[in-house]
Amino acid sequence: MKISQFLPAAMVLVLCASHSALATTIGFSQVGSESGWRTSFSESVKAEAKKRGIELKFSDAQQKQENQIKAVRSFIAQGVDAIMIAPVVETGWKPVLREAKRARIPVVILDRNVDASGDGLFLTRIASDFVEEGRRAARWLMDETDGNCRILELQGTVGATAAIDRMKGFNEVIADFPDATIVRSQTGEFTRTKGKEVMEAMLKAENGGRDICALWSHNDEMAIGAIQAIKEAGLKPGTDMLVVSVDGVPDYFKAMADGDANATVELNPHLGAPAFDVIEAYLKGDRKVEKLITTTGDLFTQATAAEEYAKRAGK
Ligand code: AHR
Repeated sequence: MKISQFLPAAMVLVLCASHSALATTIGFSQVGSESGWRTSFSESVKAEAKKRGIELKFSDAQQKQENQIKAVRSFIAQGVDAIMIAPVVETGWKPVLREAKRARIPVVILDRNVDASGDGLFLTRIASDFVEEGRRAARWLMDETDGNCRILELQGTVGATAAIDRMKGFNEVIADFPDATIVRSQTGEFTRTKGKEVMEAMLKAENGGRDICALWSHNDEMAIGAIQAIKEAGLKPGTDMLVVSVDGVPDYFKAMADGDANATVELNPHLGAPAFDVIEAYLKGDRKVEKLITTTGDLFTQATAAEEYAKRAGK
């Protein structure tokens, strides 16, 4: 005997409609909003979820891993269909990833890495090749300066893949140039404020920056803060001191168009669509998932900065 025999027709209709309208629910633990790039990434994930009718539970960790772990535990408790994590740092993820696995909730890692590859604790990671970004920035700088350059480096968040790998790639390339040296290197935590503050201190310690040929910044946001510090120190950024960075955010294209910055390696912020593709396919039973899905971007210079800025800032 069917339950519907005991229910009025209208109620059966309501039950059927609400069942078919059940949306896929995905929890997303995001690093924070430390940079323009990160904000575009979050916005793009939210827009893509809306387009696909996915119910997105978004959590901003304010650059703290402990907040991310709490958010993931809460997603598990709510019984979401899948979890996406854009991790602050690489270490410390295994216990909570095991909890998600025990609850049979698939996890996708976005952008920075976690030190749990090979343990079958996540479906896939969608990210750029950060080591290559560092290499490309360094190759551009070595070409521009004939390999003769005293460099200041602004590192990203300590322990974050984007900082570890960009530094590695950059150092690998300049190792072939005996007259290229990083004279000072410090973290600016990927933020504009800290980038400026740290740059001020480094310039002070380096005779106002007069013998420095370039700033290598692990992201545009810190570079923009540092450009301000270079100006306040009485130097012309982009001319007296070259500025090379990573991300390709509109504000940095503006700085290049104005002659204050020189080059950036673009980082694609549109990670929502490929992540949802993987998750939706997995939930439908497709188990053939690549362990790493790599995104790419170009290196941009002042040559095309004005037109790129117009496109990106919607002008
Ligand atoms: O992990 C990627 C980095 O994180 C971006 O380059 C930076 O802008 C962001 O905060």
